[in-house]
Amino acid sequence: MKGAAAGYLGQKVVEDIDLEVRTGEAVAIVGSNGAGKTTLFRAIVGLLPCMAGRVILDGVDLTRRRAHRVARAGVAYVPAERHLFPAMTVKTNLMLGAYPHRPNRETLELVFDLFPRLKERLGQQAGTMSGGEQQMLAVGRALMTQPKLLMLDEPTTGLAPKVAKAAFEAVERLKATGMTLLIAEQQVPLALSVADRAYVLENGRVRMEGTAEELEHNPEVRRAYLGVA
Ligand SMILES: Nc1ncnc2c1ncn2[C@@H]1O[C@H](COP(=O)(O)OP(=O)(O)OP(=O)(O)O)[C@@H](O)[C@H]1O
Ligand SMILES: [Mg+2]
Repeated sequence: MKGAAAGYLGQKVVEDIDLEVRTGEAVAIVGSNGAGKTTLFRAIVGLLPCMAGRVILDGVDLTRRRAHRVARAGVAYVPAERHLFPAMTVKTNLMLGAYPHRPNRETLELVFDLFPRLKERLGQQAGTMSGGEQQMLAVGRALMTQPKLLMLDEPTTGLAPKVAKAAFEAVERLKATGMTLLIAEQQVPLALSVADRAYVLENGRVRMEGTAEELEHNPEVRRAYLGVA
């Protein structure tokens, strides 16, 4: 994305965003509450209009496309709230995830490899699953679309520290399959543990960017986000 801006009611919340995710890369957007991570994600997936700039996927301009057409172009988005169908089973959630395509058996196998728990709970109502299980299901459902780019908005939302760590271990396994990932996360150490590169978002602008290793050693990042003096 290039020079992008987005916001609400004519007010820009994020601005001047130059962001690149290369094929097979895991890129993190880190920043505290209200930095603009979710707003940026919504602009990429077409839930919010871009007020400036462009969104390009594999050379195709997605800037003015609506959300369902961005999804069809290969961008899957898992919102922090997950938006599962709580009254439906795990299986139905996964099958509907593939829509408008038919569920693909190999993709389903990949989801079960990543999250064996889902296979054990196929008949369970999604709404009765634990927070961590619901996160797995939300990611699994997004994978059913066989996306080119998978975007996860704060996958650790509402998860206990141990479960959050497990969620990122799953992200690591997913990365190993070659999936291209864009992850927004407040828990900077976790995000940097899987990301190849990261952007630090502050007040709607990119304050810093670099490889995860560069940012881990950056004194400002360490002070502000890693709790190191
Ligand atoms: N629907 C909305 N209407 C108006 N302002 C909004 C709306 N959604 C978010 N904002 C504002 O935009 C700013 C950025 O919010 P955003 O949700 O993008 O931040 P975030 O980085 O995702 O934060 P968090 O880590 O808490 O999820 C905030 O000041 C927020 O109040
Ligand atoms: Mg957010």
